[in-house]
Amino acid sequence: MTERVLTGITTTGTPHLGNYVGAIRPAIKASLEPGVESFFFLADYHALIKCDDPDRIERSRLEIAATWLASGLDTGRVTFYRQSDIPETPELTWLLTCVTAKGQMNRAHAYKAATDANVAAGEDLDANITMGLYSYPILMAADILLFNAHRVPVGRDQVQHLEMARDVAQRFNHLFGCGRDLFVLPSAEVEEDVAMLPGLDGRKMSKSYDNTIPLFEGGAKGLKEAVARIVTDSRLPGEPKDPDSSSLVTIHDAFATPLQKEAMRSALRDGLGWGDAKQKTVDLIESHIGPMRARYNELMAHPEHVEEQLLAGAEKARAVATPFLRELRHAVGLRPMIAVPAPKPAAAPDPKQALPIFKQYRDEAGQFQFKLTTAQGIELLQSAQAFKDGREAGAWVKRLKTEGLAAVKAGAPVEYLAQAETVEAALAALVAAQSE
Ligand code: TRP
Repeated sequence: MTERVLTGITTTGTPHLGNYVGAIRPAIKASLEPGVESFFFLADYHALIKCDDPDRIERSRLEIAATWLASGLDTGRVTFYRQSDIPETPELTWLLTCVTAKGQMNRAHAYKAATDANVAAGEDLDANITMGLYSYPILMAADILLFNAHRVPVGRDQVQHLEMARDVAQRFNHLFGCGRDLFVLPSAEVEEDVAMLPGLDGRKMSKSYDNTIPLFEGGAKGLKEAVARIVTDSRLPGEPKDPDSSSLVTIHDAFATPLQKEAMRSALRDGLGWGDAKQKTVDLIESHIGPMRARYNELMAHPEHVEEQLLAGAEKARAVATPFLRELRHAVGLRPMIAVPAPKPAAAPDPKQALPIFKQYRDEAGQFQFKLTTAQGIELLQSAQAFKDGREAGAWVKRLKTEGLAAVKAGAPVEYLAQAETVEAALAALVAAQSE
């Protein structure tokens, strides 16, 4: 079975070398493994929660998209899209919001941290807290559940959000699944030994510490200047050095082969000057990211090419999301008005009576065919081929009755005779009746 892996990248800020080594490079590598189907998206609705500067939002989306594309993301293999191009996401957010316990959102880390800070400052508990921040975990659950992702690679700070997504998925399945699991329960995947790159000062590389090395912005010159600022001790060329005394070697190692790693270490022990070690590191990093930077600059100069790829990604994503959301709308009762039992005078209504009906019959050639009609006889669907063997036709009918749309997707040979939404609602009604 292929496993679906999905992750979102919040589009605030400009990617730095730490993002590349810690997130972008491993995600792209993992997307090439056999048996995985990857969905990567720009979480730009999430970005709006943190940032109300439209120009920054616009710039960051482009920079991040161009970075992933330039870093070798294969959009033929990976579905790469923008969250805000998928209208099903906010729609599902609402369906989930309606079954999410408010108390659980009160306990979300990001919200709690904000209220704790308010209390400590003597402010009102909810001062300056938006509903966006408060509902952040529900939007994230919708991102994940809409695509029935199995695995979600995230940082440790996001594990609680995954637990919330599982909870709401379970509640939704229980309330509306009629015994069937509408949603896959996703698992957080926290890379234990993912390379966490130290910054210029040895602390974790992070924009909030102002210790980052740029990835593409600033060009080769920017890279060289940043590496020059990596903190080292004051040992002079010729003096033996401890390779582990500076983050320089760790940053070097993130791009080095085992042989190159060992060569750098022994050269430092033998007295290589820090200045020379830095130049070697710049050369090594540049040999990896130089060619990507050229692609990045090309994409930044042609945002319309990025736009085009993202729209194609959104189309692929919506091929999954649109029919699934139709099913979910049906599950909660937002249905086209056809399968409702007509009240009969006198006798109590038999709901089965009003269900759509499958009929099997022989055509002029004596071959087997089938057809689905409403209880009133309006034709909805028919077999797209004739079967020599009646059992084969019967087997498809059975699958259509028990699996509904899933059987159509699995290749049931059928032709719709009415609007897709109407036919699929009828199939869903049959599936629901089976599990009663
Ligand atoms: N909240 C995530 C972060 O800050 C980004 C994100 C949004 C995400 N939606 C997601 C990650 C869905 C994984 C799956 O890192």
